[in-house]
Amino acid sequence: MFIDVSSLKKSYISGAVVNEVLKEIGMELDEGEIGVILGPSGSGKSTLMNIIGGIDRGDSGRVIVDGVEINNLNNDQLTDYRREQIGFVFQFYNLVPNLTVGENIEVVSNISKSPLNVDEVLAAVQMQDKKHRFPRELSGGEQQRVSIARAIVKNPKLLLCDEPTGALDYQTSRSILKLLQQVNKKYGTTILMITHNAAIAAMANRIFKLRNGEIVEAALNQATVPAERIEW
Ligand SMILES: Nc1ncnc2c1ncn2[C@@H]1O[C@H](COP(=O)(O)OP(=O)(O)OP(=O)(O)O)[C@@H](O)[C@H]1O
Ligand SMILES: [Mg+2]
Repeated sequence: MFIDVSSLKKSYISGAVVNEVLKEIGMELDEGEIGVILGPSGSGKSTLMNIIGGIDRGDSGRVIVDGVEINNLNNDQLTDYRREQIGFVFQFYNLVPNLTVGENIEVVSNISKSPLNVDEVLAAVQMQDKKHRFPRELSGGEQQRVSIARAIVKNPKLLLCDEPTGALDYQTSRSILKLLQQVNKKYGTTILMITHNAAIAAMANRIFKLRNGEIVEAALNQATVPAERIEW
């Protein structure tokens, strides 16, 4: 298994109150698969994703990604892991406002070990014509395309997407989902995606439903649907 999580626990403590955010999480995802995490607000989706991505740490349990137990890494190793292996896409793009589209992607490729070509990834997200624009000159969907290009230019093993279509309209959401599916096919990138939209699960190989810090359902989807055929 490419991602192998078992007995993962995470609590936040404020004063005398212990908030058990992840209770006893187990989940698996194979290399090259798309996984979708569904669940209500506050159920622990982002916390789980951030631990898998090395942004946060679990309290106990096992989190193995591509054979490495990331809970055992020290802070420097965890930073390297995050930088070299993980691409992140967030709901609100997080582009650097005073850098052009091309520069936003170059700053990542410059610090990557085996980056893809900047123009290639711009073409892959169909933003090659807007390389010299600034983020404020782009629509939300275009900014999300750039943020996906920035996430994949480092040629990450794992692409983590936290509600990537959360701020986008219907048609734009579908084009972003299609793009993620293309990235998965073209580069073989394993993708784990959080969404509130259960319809999106149709494009995933595995679906995880989180409730109150627990996986209440893990399903294998043998008949994945192309993103452009998903409707909601
Ligand atoms: N840094 C933190 N300190 C304290 N509590 C936190 C912290 N981060 C998250 N929590 C708590 O953990 C719980 C789960 O948060 P999380 O962000 O993982 O939820 P989520 O499923 O991603 O929700 P949403 O759909 O709203 O994004 C929430 O109750 C939240 O308040
Ligand atoms: Mg969240």
